[in-house]
Amino acid sequence: MKMFAIFGNPIKHSKSPIIHKLFAKQLNILQQYKKIYVPINKFNNIVNYFFKHGGFGANITIPFKKDAYDICDFLTERGIKSGVVNTLKIIENNKILGDNTDGIGLLKDLQKINFIHKNSNILLLGAGGAAKGIIYPLINFGCKITITNRTYKNSCNLLKHFNNIKHIDVLKIEDINNIINKKKINYDLIINATSSSIKGEIPNISSNIIHSNIFCYDLFYDSSITPFLKWCLHHGAKKISDGIGMLIEQAAYSFFLWHGIMPNTTLILKEFKKKYS
Ligand SMILES: NC(=O)c1ccc[n+]([C@@H]2O[C@H](COP(=O)([O-])OP(=O)(O)OC[C@H]3O[C@@H](n4cnc5c(N)ncnc54)[C@H](OP(=O)(O)O)[C@@H]3O)[C@@H](O)[C@H]2O)c1
Repeated sequence: MKMFAIFGNPIKHSKSPIIHKLFAKQLNILQQYKKIYVPINKFNNIVNYFFKHGGFGANITIPFKKDAYDICDFLTERGIKSGVVNTLKIIENNKILGDNTDGIGLLKDLQKINFIHKNSNILLLGAGGAAKGIIYPLINFGCKITITNRTYKNSCNLLKHFNNIKHIDVLKIEDINNIINKKKINYDLIINATSSSIKGEIPNISSNIIHSNIFCYDLFYDSSITPFLKWCLHHGAKKISDGIGMLIEQAAYSFFLWHGIMPNTTLILKEFKKKYS
């Protein structure tokens, strides 16, 4: 039986084992998929041990996506573009192939729920691994992105990574209010790619970003509404969504990389919501 695992810290909250179990059942594939907690600084040892002892593929979550990128022997184009990976696969001669399925997974979900169009003006909150993974597919789709982050330097570093790509800029979080008032900017979509929701917090940002035509998306998923989405609704957002759709779509692209077959994600999302939320 092929062995898979998701590596992260924290990892308790991860729903990936449930999702991959549903995929495997839908497609009649026998596999094992478990959660592995990784102490900070132990990523390389633990992942290498897993692959040496029969591991076939892995998902990587917070905060190890850059560490995962660094151990890859080969990368898909999506992996190269984003500079971080969430999916690993053992290929011939025990080499590791890395891919990033976060961006394509998010884009697919945003399209399914009609939160995005080709010219969407997006405000992206956060500059960590998830933000890095989703920027390229969204820009490639035709959107404009403004990045803002608690630590300004980290958003500038992110911008540097994409320095040859148009339609991205950076704003200090404390300047957003002024810019909206002065330039009369209205974002179409806000994506919360910070990990604030994990701790029950919300990014410290002006509520002026919210208006009655805005879509708000939190990458985080929990069985109850995330604090960020609650705040968006309170300030009058048009529609909100958490990251469960993205979680299932990105997992499906990982599954495809490992098995060469794509699960029916619409059915899995329905089943997941019925049984697990
Ligand atoms: N639905 C999905 O499929 C999916 C996929 C990937 C990730 N995610 C979710 O996306 C989130 C981010 O993951 P990641 O891998 O990017 O994490 P990460 O690399 O650790 O980055 C965390 C980001 O959040 C910011 N942040 C943390 N706490 C904050 C707070 N209280 N207020 C404002 N900003 C805060 C950090 O800002 P600083 O730079 O200032 O530290 C940084 O920009 C997590 O919630 C994760 O579960 C979901």
